[in-house]
Amino acid sequence: MGSPANRIFSGVQPTGNLHLGNYLGAIRNWVALQTSYDCIFCIVDLHALTQPQDPKQLLAQTREVTAAYIAAGIDPERCIIFNQSTVPGHAELGWLLSCMTPLGWLNRMTQFKEKAGKQRDNAGLGLYAYPVLMAADILLYKATHVPVGEDQKQHLELSRDIAGAFNRRYGVEFFPLPEPQIFGAATRVMSLRDGTKKMSKSDTSDYSRINMTDDAETVALKIRKARTDSEPLPDTLEALDKRAEAANLVDIYAALTDLKREEALARVAGQNFSKFKEDLAEVSVAILGKIGGEMQRLMADPGYIDGVLKRGAERANAIARPHLAEVFDIMGLLRP
Ligand code: AMP
Ligand code: TRP
Repeated sequence: MGSPANRIFSGVQPTGNLHLGNYLGAIRNWVALQTSYDCIFCIVDLHALTQPQDPKQLLAQTREVTAAYIAAGIDPERCIIFNQSTVPGHAELGWLLSCMTPLGWLNRMTQFKEKAGKQRDNAGLGLYAYPVLMAADILLYKATHVPVGEDQKQHLELSRDIAGAFNRRYGVEFFPLPEPQIFGAATRVMSLRDGTKKMSKSDTSDYSRINMTDDAETVALKIRKARTDSEPLPDTLEALDKRAEAANLVDIYAALTDLKREEALARVAGQNFSKFKEDLAEVSVAILGKIGGEMQRLMADPGYIDGVLKRGAERANAIARPHLAEVFDIMGLLRP
């Protein structure tokens, strides 16, 4: 592997319904980064367990996310692709780091508050501790950069705090402080049904999101049905930002066509939604159709997918094991 001074780690949970937000906020950026960084891309199955999962589906979705990575253009030779549970170091380091994470830091995590809802006492310890496991994922490889969507920013700040706490407590400069990489025109893709809600895997309405496996007809239909207002598209960003649903669609359009927000808006200003939605459907289908088709092809060969994950697990373990041994030594855990 290349220099650890320049290492990327990122991951997606295998919890079904991979969507346009996952693609534009995360996976697509990884494809562009793989030529300049030493990259590790994980399917975070241990994180998925923070909410109830059907075992058969969890297996299938682990292969599906792997297929999505490869179909989107991540090269499994160049990058390490593996599922989290095949590297025991994640859970081990997760425990060690949890022993230096104050509850006050975890209590600030907005994602826990959202996911636990009003039933806080019924939420699992795993859901609460999830950001510590995420810090362990990154620090186990001494990753320096973490490309994610906007919603993960707070978790990354916590990862930096935890890395700093470890270094300070033991008087070492062992863990680098990982830098978030949040970029593109669509760092936070919103629901197609409600421009104030994030597009998410768990939304009960399938019309709220575009799935990476949706066929052309479904993509076009969902875009046509996307909630909008009745005004034509405005010509200033200021006016656009007052209209959540319109802004979301323009941002998606900008991301898919590789334009800046203002360039995308200049192209579509004054259009009615009927025309704009047609164009948006066309660019969406052109990109997602190809990836979805390739995913189906890859998923028809689970032997190939499992081979990629097995090789990825070996390569990931080879980096993780010596790092964890050093952590044991630093902390005074005897390795007789
Ligand atoms: P998850 O679906 O929570 O496993 O997220 C996997 C990756 O996709 C993370 O980097 C998220 O930040 C990113 N992501 C998830 N939902 C969205 C969204 N609606 N917009 C942009 N990025 C997202
Ligand atoms: N928590 C991330 C999410 O839900 C997934 C994730 C787990 C992750 N471990 C990570 C992302 C490490 C980046 C780095 O989206």
